[in-house]
Amino acid sequence: MATNWNPQSWMAHEAKHLPVYPDAAKLANVEQTLSTFPPLVFAGEARALKADLAEVAAGKGFLLQGGDCAESFAEFHPNNIRDTFRVLLQMAVVLTFASKQPVVKVGRMAGQFAKPRSSPVEVQGGIELPSYLGDNINGIEFTPESRIPDPDRLLRAYSQSAATLNLLRAFATGGYANLRQVHQWTLDFMDRSPWAAKFAEVSGRIGEALDFMQACGVDPSSVPQLQGTSFYTSHEALLLPYEQALTRQDSLTGQWYDCSAHMLWIGDRTRFEGSAHVEFLRGVGNPIGMKCGPSLSPDALLKLLDTLNPAREAGRITLISRYGHDKVEAGLPALVRAVKREGHPVVWSCDPMHGNVIKAESGYKTRPFDRILTEVRGFFAVHRAEGTHAGGIHVEMTGRDVTECTGGAVAISDEALGDRYHTHCDPRLNAAQSLELAFLLAEELNREAGDRARQAA
Ligand code: TRP
Ligand code: MN
Repeated sequence: MATNWNPQSWMAHEAKHLPVYPDAAKLANVEQTLSTFPPLVFAGEARALKADLAEVAAGKGFLLQGGDCAESFAEFHPNNIRDTFRVLLQMAVVLTFASKQPVVKVGRMAGQFAKPRSSPVEVQGGIELPSYLGDNINGIEFTPESRIPDPDRLLRAYSQSAATLNLLRAFATGGYANLRQVHQWTLDFMDRSPWAAKFAEVSGRIGEALDFMQACGVDPSSVPQLQGTSFYTSHEALLLPYEQALTRQDSLTGQWYDCSAHMLWIGDRTRFEGSAHVEFLRGVGNPIGMKCGPSLSPDALLKLLDTLNPAREAGRITLISRYGHDKVEAGLPALVRAVKREGHPVVWSCDPMHGNVIKAESGYKTRPFDRILTEVRGFFAVHRAEGTHAGGIHVEMTGRDVTECTGGAVAISDEALGDRYHTHCDPRLNAAQSLELAFLLAEELNREAGDRARQAA
């Protein structure tokens, strides 16, 4: 266990991107209430995820992490949860089928609310207001009242997270994720994508494999692995008062866990040496992600790894690179080499979203799909060259048929962005773009497996 740590030791460190609540007494009250509520996850589940990720770190598996940039109160609907979950299932099936390796499924769901913003203020029509910081902090409406941080929003975020997680657990184990259902996961509007036909082909082959096994006496209805899946939750551990209130000591091991989600990550803006966010996550036993952008030097990374994972436990750390399509091949190798040289066991995951944001002529913030794919290819190329495992993908996506990222097989043009631009923060891949990405990942994973087989021969 971490030394000199307790759930509030972060308060003595430099905290960036935390809101200032005008009503401090009300905040303290809400924190107190939250600390009496049931944890959303159990420590044993966080350990199970860590064990799964340790396999990925060892080159045996792939991490699929995806969901909204920011969950919102407005988009809270069972159909949205179901549709995002089913696109993740589709992606997972494509990846498992292609790579013949387990895929660890982690949602940016059931708690991904708080957002660090590039500017503390927003100006519209000559009026300046505090920026929107996420539905668990303030409101997106551009009015002075709505932009005041309100502690009651934490309770609403907790309850939405609990309900979301409850439904996800039901889907994961209650029959929805049964491999026999693979044909049913396709969304109607996806028929327009050529990748939907490709998915139908994969589904057909999986169905045949299941029929064959059944004829051999392995009945899918009695094999738990075929009937359901493990699905974990994650979010950026940004809003430390909330995370602290949900941090509990595990009765089995005495270790502290942040029970707001299975996995928590540290953003690129809060991962500096001495940061309150690093201090907080240092002491909890969950698997931890850390975003790595162009400003991170190899030395700073190694220091952070020593702070966050002094015991070098495999599965503890996932490094999520987010360089941008034109920077990944130049910037990432130095980090990969340093980590390999020092023998830190990490999962390398690729976030091809956050380094590829541009402003379209229409004024919308968007991400060109071809740049996203280029960064993914660059990420795999780096790991091929360094002899390391390209272990995961981290994407902002939704099961809804939105028009937020341009391009893709069902091409979304600059002009079409306004049609269904619903995100509360960054632009997300829609279902068709997500599936298309999964097929690219499958191809790259196959190539890695081919290289490995040749080296072993
Ligand atoms: N239990 C296995 C797994 O999660 C197989 C499986 C069941 C699966 N349902 C799934 C795989 C849905 C992907 C998607 O990997
Ligand atoms: Mn984002």
